[in-house]
Amino acid sequence: MKKEHLLDLKGVSVHYGGVKALDKVDLSIGQGEIVALMGPNGAGKSTVLKAIFGIAPLGSGEILLRGKRLKPVVYEMVHMGIVLVPQGRRVFTHLSIEENLEIGGFFIKNREELKRRMEEAMDFFPALKKKRHLKARVLSGGEQQMLAIARGLIADPKVLLLDEPSLGLAPKIIKEVFAKVKEINERKGTAVAVVEHNLKSLLDIVDRAYILDKGRVVAEETAERLLKSDILEKVFLGKLGR
Ligand SMILES: Nc1ncnc2c1ncn2[C@@H]1O[C@H](COP(=O)(O)OP(=O)(O)OP(=O)(O)O)[C@@H](O)[C@H]1O
Ligand SMILES: [Mg+2]
Repeated sequence: MKKEHLLDLKGVSVHYGGVKALDKVDLSIGQGEIVALMGPNGAGKSTVLKAIFGIAPLGSGEILLRGKRLKPVVYEMVHMGIVLVPQGRRVFTHLSIEENLEIGGFFIKNREELKRRMEEAMDFFPALKKKRHLKARVLSGGEQQMLAIARGLIADPKVLLLDEPSLGLAPKIIKEVFAKVKEINERKGTAVAVVEHNLKSLLDIVDRAYILDKGRVVAEETAERLLKSDILEKVFLGKLGR
């Protein structure tokens, strides 16, 4: 059963020149829900997250947070509680862990509040807390991904958008990252939209999944139902017959 709507995309289309990246996408994320976005390369998964975050050129349609239309300005998004952790975990490797976290709180004027949020973010990731004064470049891939997520937490998001956090990580580390995502979701009630290729690594944590193909939503299912169906196989093998 769907939880109360938090975020809604209604008929969202995005074009990059002649490329139709999204074609009338309808999608919703409930309060405190974890939703997966799946589909082959180029399906439009990152574009969905970018559209929500206000950095994709919205051709038509609208994006609503609790029924209110969002203004496509990044500063506004962060204030409204929407945070994007982009594909390729872009942490600042020449800066320390603390400095990376400070950047996530660029808009917080009150130093005490910023410090409080940094401690809170690090409490989720004890491995980072121990290394807080070290440069991010010494971190492993998994730790860098955790730092990218921790940096997003500084904004105290209502909606956390994670673009392929598992990319290039070993299965054991992927499990750890997703366990953290679940912990954040449970402790803070943060809704999460996560792009992921491997449904199995998400099964324990997601409520629902949207399958995208060629810029369209082709299925919306619970993870259990998805596993039993052959839709993923069809989409990934290009056998959807469209
Ligand atoms: N800045 C851009 N300029 C031109 N075309 C773009 C741009 N960004 C994305 N596209 C195109 O839009 C489509 C959707 O891209 P998107 O990055 O959303 O896919 P994706 O599902 O995230 O793929 P991947 O799994 O490879 O990350 C693709 O055809 C892509 O080439
Ligand atoms: Mg992508």
